[in-house]
Amino acid sequence: MRKITVVGAGNVGATAAQRLAEKELARKVVLIDVADGIPQGKGLDQWESAAIEGFDTRVTGATDFSAAEGSELFIVTAGIARKPGMSRDDLLRTNADIVRSVSGEIARVAPDSIIVMVSNPLDAMSWVAMDASGFPKERVIGMAGVLDTARYRSFIALELDCSVEDIQALVLGGHGDTMVPLVSYTTVSGIPLTQLMSQDRIDALVDRTRKGGAEIVGYLKTGSAYYAPSSAAVQMAEAIAKDKKRILPCSAWLEGEYGEHGIFLGVPCKLGARGLEQILEVELTEKEREELARSAEAVRSTIDSLR
Ligand code: 2OP
Repeated sequence: MRKITVVGAGNVGATAAQRLAEKELARKVVLIDVADGIPQGKGLDQWESAAIEGFDTRVTGATDFSAAEGSELFIVTAGIARKPGMSRDDLLRTNADIVRSVSGEIARVAPDSIIVMVSNPLDAMSWVAMDASGFPKERVIGMAGVLDTARYRSFIALELDCSVEDIQALVLGGHGDTMVPLVSYTTVSGIPLTQLMSQDRIDALVDRTRKGGAEIVGYLKTGSAYYAPSSAAVQMAEAIAKDKKRILPCSAWLEGEYGEHGIFLGVPCKLGARGLEQILEVELTEKEREELARSAEAVRSTIDSLR
């Protein structure tokens, strides 16, 4: 790509910019933030690492959206992060206003771009971005499932003492306590997880995955996770920038898939140059179907409260 813009130069945004640059996913990476000096300073600092890391992606920072003009892809991380004791939904009002304004700016300076939403509460913010930008559903995709799946895979690898690369899994549903790790689709190099671990241990890892974001907030106290979230957003960006057609769990606008209408929810998606190119509908067990419906209900009430 020629230009990717990261909105929000906090921990998630700045780390995402650095990862985009190190992977040379675009000729230019622009970091935008309202706090004058922060995006400029972080952008310059990152570019000064280029000679050592060996990348030619020019990283710059700005407070004005005109710097983002012509970007093909945006990673939106703007908003406040969780503090201990706060749920993702506590962020709802504040971040909805921020994301609404940012999405309007994106539509103005880059009307054909693709938005990867990262701000929380994720599924609701994806809806705000689609609503405020006027973009079609193919061009607004939420980052949640890649992160939740990465956490789940990392816990399984620790438990089995095996390579995390050999663990395939899917976590669907909303990015919150109701997310649905699909045990029936979890394999270790194709071997069903249920053949390698007791149900008790699987249940414990599923529970830890659901609370994965809060576990990090509990340690950091003044903020939330950013290494894994930025990796997840950049994996989605890479799939789009390189037209890889990767199948990744993402929050997508549903129009009947999985029996849901008019909400963003985590489902398996094909990501390529056009953004969201396909939603894959997989068979679910009765229990998984119920859990997904419950998760959809939680997301729906959050979105409804913003309408
Ligand atoms: C997380 O899961 C903050 O939602 C983010 O870490």
